Amino acid sequence: MKFFIDTADVGEIREATALGVLDGVTTNPSLIAKTRRPFREVLEEILDLVDGPVSAEVTAVDFEGMIGEAKELSSLHENIVIKIPIISEGLKAISWCTNEGIKTNVTLCFNPMQALMAAKAGASYISPFVGRLDDISQDGMELITQIRQIYDNYGFDTEILVASIRSPMHVVQSALIGADVATIPFKVIDSLLKHPLTTRGLEQFLKDWEQVPSQ
Ligand code: G3P
Repeated sequence: MKFFIDTADVGEIREATALGVLDGVTTNPSLIAKTRRPFREVLEEILDLVDGPVSAEVTAVDFEGMIGEAKELSSLHENIVIKIPIISEGLKAISWCTNEGIKTNVTLCFNPMQALMAAKAGASYISPFVGRLDDISQDGMELITQIRQIYDNYGFDTEILVASIRSPMHVVQSALIGADVATIPFKVIDSLLKHPLTTRGLEQFLKDWEQVPSQ
């Protein structure tokens, strides 16, 4: 399973890159707004830091506006993936991008039919938002299971990119189900290696090592 980081914070991306397991980055308008910096400036820094897919979201909600932004953003770098919401104008824009050879990440997916429509339009990635479904007492991970089955039934190669991840268990379940990608916030990435027995075990090894004579 590929690991993307879900942030526009360049400091976080730099730290995650240093771990050597980062495959890409996803951003969205809210994450860009949090940086309080211009979109292009942030995007260019991210593209310099990461050698992998970087999702940049359109903000137009009509077909012409979306493809205008898709053309502009995709011309910036070959690693750019155009993030498009799964609305009808979005679906037209996804089909257009597919025909133009522009990669797409279809966002704001909350049910399996949206995922099927995105795959039929040739989307490169589908982003089901698991945390936001859990927030309203629906089972986010069940949606991932359903999409996995539908895509496998028909051989779609759209990659399932689990988004809105809130905890390490979302990452574990994504891997068990066979999702292609998990896009993970920095604080969750940071918690993936943590285990109290690892911490305690290492402390003990170092303490015992002090008893070993030097020569
Ligand atoms: O980037 C899309 C998604 O990961 C958003 O997550 O935490 O705002 O629901 P969240």
